[in-house]
Amino acid sequence: MCASGHRFDAARQGYVNFLTGRGTRFVPDTAEMVAARERFLGAGYYAPIAQAVADAAAPALSGPGGPTDDGAGARRALSPAVLDAGAGTGYYLGAVLARSPGASAVALDLSRHALARAAKLPRTAAVVWDLWRDLPLPDRSVDVVLDVFAPRNLREYARVLRPRGVLCIVTPRPEHLAGLRDLLPMLDVPAGKAEGVARAAEQDFEAGYRRAIEFPLVLDRDAAADLALMGPAGHHTERAVLLAKLPAGPLETEGAVELSVLRRR
Ligand SMILES: C[S@@+](CC[C@H](N)C(=O)[O-])C[C@H]1O[C@@H](n2cnc3c(N)ncnc32)[C@H](O)[C@@H]1O
Repeated sequence: MCASGHRFDAARQGYVNFLTGRGTRFVPDTAEMVAARERFLGAGYYAPIAQAVADAAAPALSGPGGPTDDGAGARRALSPAVLDAGAGTGYYLGAVLARSPGASAVALDLSRHALARAAKLPRTAAVVWDLWRDLPLPDRSVDVVLDVFAPRNLREYARVLRPRGVLCIVTPRPEHLAGLRDLLPMLDVPAGKAEGVARAAEQDFEAGYRRAIEFPLVLDRDAAADLALMGPAGHHTERAVLLAKLPAGPLETEGAVELSVLRRR
């Protein structure tokens, strides 16, 4: 039950849907897209990103948790908490929680199919939610916000983070998956995404550090098709169409992303 008396039932799959009856203009990832994401990430291709995100989050999640003000001036310690905004299947959140066993988590995403996976993580509340609405969390209630390849509601991240809390944002660089983009109908990545994040965050966040993460990827045909299907192309195309465009042998490309670590002022 929420503070205003609404009752929310957890689905059998373990997530809670706060969007019921309110709708959203965004189209959530489908079950097929989520299955492709789970297969691809489960094979470990993006492990270098997960490791970097877990490293960045760990210092802010290692203590007893930031003190919080109860509104009457009293301060109490809470266990450290992490919000994964646009968590998808919770792959990166899983790496963070494994590294920081004292932390608990909230995973938000539009896709109930994705959250059914994220809900299986330990110490995690998975909530179907639209990131462009005010987030269903109190002010200054989390120590870390993760945003990996997801929409960024920086104003709300600033509100829910405790002072000195850490925001970890992963954005693709233009060369990310370039070898695959040449063959398959995937969106180009504009240059300067991380710079755009830094500019947009200036008012509420201090720059921590930015780290380029680059790694070779050798993909078989199924992994290459999954990689395309787990992104926006999954809304418009089918596996058979993608497979017909791919070479018979393995495909070599490169992962190239930027991790931006910012600190709430
Ligand atoms: C590219 S995926 C990244 C998922 C996950 N962070 C990962 O990297 O595996 C983008 C995610 O954002 C979610 N998403 C897109 N728009 C959203 C919105 N307005 N509110 C909540 N989630 C959204 C999608 O459902 C999808 O799971």
